[in-house]
Amino acid sequence: MKKASMILDRDFAIGAVDPRIYGSFIEHLGRAVYNGIYEPGHPAADEQGFRRDVLELVRRLHVPVVRYPGGNFVSGFNWEDSVGPVKQRPHRLDLAWFTTETNEVGLHEFVDWARKANSQVMYAVNLGTRGADAARNVVEYANHRGGTYWSDLRIKNGAKDPFGIKLWCLGNEMDGPWQMGHKTAYEYGRVANEAAKMMKWVDPSIEVVACGSANHDMVTFGEWEYTMLGECYDQVDYVSLHRYYGNPTNDTPGFLARSMDLDEFIKTVVSICDAVGGRRKSKKKLNLSFDEWNVWYHSNQQDQEIWKQDKWGRALPLLEDIYNFEDALLAGSILITFLRNADRVKIACLAQLVNVIAPIMTRNGGGAWAQTIYYPLMHASLYGRGTALRPIVSSPVYDCADYENVPVVDATATMDDDGNVTIFAVNRDMAEDVLLTCDLRAFGDLKAAEHIVLHHDDVKAVNTEENPENVAPSAGSGGRMDGGRLEICLRNLSWNVIRLAKA
Ligand code: AHR
Repeated sequence: MKKASMILDRDFAIGAVDPRIYGSFIEHLGRAVYNGIYEPGHPAADEQGFRRDVLELVRRLHVPVVRYPGGNFVSGFNWEDSVGPVKQRPHRLDLAWFTTETNEVGLHEFVDWARKANSQVMYAVNLGTRGADAARNVVEYANHRGGTYWSDLRIKNGAKDPFGIKLWCLGNEMDGPWQMGHKTAYEYGRVANEAAKMMKWVDPSIEVVACGSANHDMVTFGEWEYTMLGECYDQVDYVSLHRYYGNPTNDTPGFLARSMDLDEFIKTVVSICDAVGGRRKSKKKLNLSFDEWNVWYHSNQQDQEIWKQDKWGRALPLLEDIYNFEDALLAGSILITFLRNADRVKIACLAQLVNVIAPIMTRNGGGAWAQTIYYPLMHASLYGRGTALRPIVSSPVYDCADYENVPVVDATATMDDDGNVTIFAVNRDMAEDVLLTCDLRAFGDLKAAEHIVLHHDDVKAVNTEENPENVAPSAGSGGRMDGGRLEICLRNLSWNVIRLAKA
């Protein structure tokens, strides 16, 4: 058996964990909204048409914030289409996903759904085909108490109290040529600055997220952040990062090492933010909103086939990745990476939530079930609260195509306000278990309370409606605690949650 060790100390703190790093995302795309969260006529639908079985799975996931309504969709979206009597709302072509948007679910309905899901809305404004004027109007509509055109329209449409949406995205992936209204970094920086300024004049309590690069591989990456932040640094609160991974060459060790790329990406964006701040002699520190992350590649081919057959349909089954066990392991490592960067990553959204590259799947008229990637997010959100600790980990390493010295054990820890500690660990080894020794003497009396393990002998194992618990958490060995030292076995290829409670 391989061996690894970890030293933890309550004083080695990275920072407070912002619970919003356990957020998610619902876009008007595919079957995320229509035939996902909303399916009137389904036996589980409530009086608004929202599926109760889906809501229950979302509640159990504990997502404190849900980004909405896009994504690429938002860059061609008129928010005004989504309010008022449903029958009068226009049907429009959505040029992002080549479908027809019926606007049956809009702002009011989504705010209601988010309340039922125990979540907050993170609302994206359209800075693609529209601009600062539409953006400040939707803030007035959503958040102003009343007595003005837009706030009174909200009241007339049935919502007396303001929605109080606190978090706003200034467009989506505006550096991407695929985006409606794609801009240069300078053009975007200017419009983001003006939109943020006016939105905050309407409601000074809001926070806004500027679009960083669509991903780390964009040729404009770095230059985009530096230039656009040069135009809007003082007005914005966060910079967004997006990243999706795939394993098309079936290289599991290489795939599981991808969180190293993520860490590098985060650190580079932090450096650029600080460089812009430094150049401006600003005391302000910008934080990061990793508002799209996931594995995304399983469904690419299928999407091309769907579009060949049915452009402009409604609720097409797009981006329906079926996640396997190795995807869950990478999701675990991604969450560990966010915790390791908890001082600067304050928001993160698993993209997306239902049916579209999602932890939750549904069948039209049928069941709803959790995919493999559901579990690491659920565990991290349930137990990864409080303070992120900086562990000293010593682990065997391996080399793969893109990285050298990949730690076999990817691990971190959090401590809650009562002094209970949770260790999150992925064993990336394909074949061998690892004996992890944790030095916890600095915490005084701790007892091993629970060991949760996600493991499957087949890295390609998936969950289905018929077999929804094929890949599901189970109780681990629990380990042995002696004199402030814990010895615990991490199975080969496993996600582990080790909960230690004050004795
Ligand atoms: O999440 C799917 C898409 O990925 C989003 O619409 C877009 O922002 C990203 O490219």
